[in-house]
Amino acid sequence: MSLPYVAFEGIEGAGKSTVAQRVGERLEADGHEVVRVREPGGTAVGERIRAILLGHDLLPDPWTEALLFAAARAQLASEVVGPALDSGAWVLSDRSVYSSLAYQGAGRGLGIDAVRSVNEPGLQDVWPNLVILLAIDAAEGLLRQDVGDRIGDEGVEFQRTVADGFATAAASEPERFVIIDAGNPLDDVVDAAYREVRSRW
Ligand code: TYD
Repeated sequence: MSLPYVAFEGIEGAGKSTVAQRVGERLEADGHEVVRVREPGGTAVGERIRAILLGHDLLPDPWTEALLFAAARAQLASEVVGPALDSGAWVLSDRSVYSSLAYQGAGRGLGIDAVRSVNEPGLQDVWPNLVILLAIDAAEGLLRQDVGDRIGDEGVEFQRTVADGFATAAASEPERFVIIDAGNPLDDVVDAAYREVRSRW
């Protein structure tokens, strides 16, 4: 059976972090051990890479950006996610490789397949088995965003392209994705996400 590695995905302002946090609390209340991670980051190496990627002081070129995200993710997979899954914990991730497919593959125009292929070697089988895609209108999402990072500040057209990238990725792997309307009240979104997780494990 596949291991409980769940990624929460979506464009800016979709509410991933809050929903992931609340779903995790419910799983813990059910008695499960839950390990929470966020991307990019979650390891000492990854947090340094995060500073390069999201600060406003540096401007990596698109492939440098994609490869740095992949590098931070490979470290997280080997240091945290893989061992947590092996020990029987549930892993809830705020973003994942699917953010790279959407942001760098679609948003930066590098191609979803090309970005997938540079991520695969560092991850191997440490790959999210369920992706909860929180869908929201790009303009509404930007209104909800508090402080933007370098990539989050790219503007509404970029966010729309990223949203299309997520939709394309979801359509090509329908068994791995569930799409939840993040425009609904937060409690309903959390309930729906929790039910989807529990229906699989
Ligand atoms: P973060 O501070 O985690 O905020 P949020 O997830 O709430 O948006 O910002 C991560 C930023 O990095 C966000 O703008 C999306 C972007 N990103 C990518 O472009 N590619 C990736 O692979 C990942 C993980 C994130």
